[in-house]
Amino acid sequence: MTDYDAADNSAKCYELAIKTMREKLEGFHRVEIGDCTLYRADCREVLPLLPKVDAVVTDPPYGDDATHAKHLSSITLRNGEPAGQALGFDGITKEELAAMACQWVEKAKRWVVFSCEWRHVARLDDAGILVRFGVWRKPDGAPQFTGDRPGTGWEAVAVCHGPGRKRWNGGGSHAFWSIPKAGFYGHPTEKPEALLRALVRDFTDAGETILDPFMGSGTTGVACVKLGRKFIGVEIDDKYFDIACKRIRDAYAQPDFFVSRVPEPKAEQLGMFNQP
Ligand SMILES: C[S@@+](CC[C@H](N)C(=O)[O-])C[C@H]1O[C@@H](n2cnc3c(N)ncnc32)[C@H](O)[C@@H]1O
Repeated sequence: MTDYDAADNSAKCYELAIKTMREKLEGFHRVEIGDCTLYRADCREVLPLLPKVDAVVTDPPYGDDATHAKHLSSITLRNGEPAGQALGFDGITKEELAAMACQWVEKAKRWVVFSCEWRHVARLDDAGILVRFGVWRKPDGAPQFTGDRPGTGWEAVAVCHGPGRKRWNGGGSHAFWSIPKAGFYGHPTEKPEALLRALVRDFTDAGETILDPFMGSGTTGVACVKLGRKFIGVEIDDKYFDIACKRIRDAYAQPDFFVSRVPEPKAEQLGMFNQP
């Protein structure tokens, strides 16, 4: 076999592999809305079949099982159903989260940004993918009702990247986002749209493709629509998948008078860091 034959064979194998992956992907329930593709599926099955994306912005079901279950059991949904039952998933362990985050970093050309437990961050650092331990400050977070110790009022945001040059849109500002808690579209751990808009704006550019493998009620997707990004979302639960589809359709239907589709530079970028 000549070098030409070998190259031809490997090109054919590559084409066949791509075709097989595309066919497998088509086997999952999928809804296309504008520039968004939403899969109702287990992200662990879908992820290996997806092409590279520009960034991953997500909110995995974190928390060790005890914390998670306790938190969820204290919430009741609008229809009266207890959230713990409705949610039907377990919090990811530190080990699983670090392994998944490494896969996301391989899948992304640029940033991988996600909320997580502060206890999990050290594993990401050990894996060599953590760039910054960020903080989502909740100014309206619950006070410490016992009054015998300080309250929490924040959640960790892991900012990860593969090897190579890094670039974000936040200039010299800090990995700190102070944003009130979410509205309520029917998901018990829904994140505020303003937080996801801030993360999408800071870590991605207009026209890029962002993946959220744990889409929930679609908050990341809504932020992507409003900021002119393409979006791929995966959600395992029918109920939250349907909510995400509706929110993303509504986001396209309702013009947003307060947010421009092209990211604007932050005041810090214009001031402190552009001095001669
Ligand atoms: C913390 S919630 C995300 C909430 C979302 N940020 C929002 O604002 O609505 C995590 C979601 O991941 C989903 N999930 C859990 N395991 C999954 C899996 N293996 N594949 C896809 N989705 C999964 C859960 O059903 C849940 O809706």
